[in-house]
Amino acid sequence: MKIDILTLFPDMFNNVFEESIIKRAQELKKVEINIINFREYTIDPHNKVDDTPYGGGAGMVLTCQPIFDCVNSIRTNDSVVILLTPDGEVYKQKKAYQLAEKKHLIIICGHYEGFDERIRSICDLEISIGDYVLTGGEIAAMVLVDSITRLLPGVITEDSHINDSFNDNLLDYPTYTKPRIYNGMEVPEVLLSGDHKKIAEYRYQESLKKTKERRPDLLEK
Ligand code: ADE
Repeated sequence: MKIDILTLFPDMFNNVFEESIIKRAQELKKVEINIINFREYTIDPHNKVDDTPYGGGAGMVLTCQPIFDCVNSIRTNDSVVILLTPDGEVYKQKKAYQLAEKKHLIIICGHYEGFDERIRSICDLEISIGDYVLTGGEIAAMVLVDSITRLLPGVITEDSHINDSFNDNLLDYPTYTKPRIYNGMEVPEVLLSGDHKKIAEYRYQESLKKTKERRPDLLEK
């Protein structure tokens, strides 16, 4: 998969994809991540990428031209163009799975007070990472890249994400490792039993219990 991130703040991405699983995914050529400063596409003599809003109001608005030209120069028939904005569809694990199937993602990070409404016309999807307002789409882009990359075949073993929270609308079951007793807290006996059927049932019941307590909304789905 190829992921192009369009931003005015490329330095925000320094090092974030250079650690752990995302770093390894790039080394294994499972994903290619490019950070593109769309200011490089402006035709304004002063390198401007924003302007005052028609009708008045506070702040500056991202203009169409640099983003249109940047997207048009990199998009192909395989591209999915995603705009990050608090008024987009709220991002869920299901969407991460859907996007992990795509060949090329173009992710546009909005910034400042907003963007010209016409920018929406070149986007296939608008995504919000939650009901709060960030200063821009950069951190949201990091969230998308991380959650999608770990799902790409060969990046982590499938077992590692098949049991993730949110699959089957259930939160993850509790896990334990050595030692068996720590500060007086014991590992549940069933996990030491070696009985895989019993362990699977215990884990399912624990997932269900945790989901009922913490996220009953997931079960209503
Ligand atoms: N830009 C600003 N806030 C955002 C959010 N919640 N999700 C995605 N992009 C954003």
